[in-house]
Amino acid sequence: MKIEFLGHAAFRLTGEKTVLIDPFLSGNPSAKIKPEDLTGIDMVLVTHGHGDHLGDAVRIAKDNNAVLVAMHEIALYGKANGVASIEPMNIGGTVEVQGVSITMTNAVHSSDFEGGSAHAAGFVIAMDGHTVYHAGDTGVFYDMNLIRELYAPEVALLPIGSRYTMGIKEAVKAVEFLQPQIVVPMHFGTTPLIQQDPEEFKKAVKGRAHVVVLNPGDSFTL
Ligand code: NI
Ligand code: MN
Repeated sequence: MKIEFLGHAAFRLTGEKTVLIDPFLSGNPSAKIKPEDLTGIDMVLVTHGHGDHLGDAVRIAKDNNAVLVAMHEIALYGKANGVASIEPMNIGGTVEVQGVSITMTNAVHSSDFEGGSAHAAGFVIAMDGHTVYHAGDTGVFYDMNLIRELYAPEVALLPIGSRYTMGIKEAVKAVEFLQPQIVVPMHFGTTPLIQQDPEEFKKAVKGRAHVVVLNPGDSFTL
């Protein structure tokens, strides 16, 4: 599985299927790719309704005829706005989409959007024998231990920007709870409000996990 960082909290996972998560590209100062450049997307996952996550999801889902996977209310909003195929879900549930297993996890965060309000979430995605946890926007929470016990993610994509999400100190605690092999920091540096030094995070995680710092457009393969 290839894991590609598209900036902020946006990732593209390419394996048997192509999975796009939180595609905030238009208006994202850190994004190097435009929504119209994304082709062959099978499914678009949205962690919550904030503009820096819902972003271009509806448009990309429509352009690619992709399945929109999101919290019930956000999925229905997508449908009302022309997305043909949706998988509404909620925290604790798992859906199987084209052979990809997607579990919605809790996130400790607010979430409203044009279409109403919906609880913020994260995702555990299992594809090609690999398991990736995208935390969404969240503070650290003790039940990340449950995510480890139930799903044992190999890779954790964790926000470190502070102010709106965990900062470095909290994200290191999240790594202790989750015990992934690989951690990718996200949701930092996009604007001056969430500046962080990922090298500082790397130092603080030390031997607990392998920290992979990706610039927008960078990727690695499991
Ligand atoms: Ni948010
Ligand atoms: Mn955010």
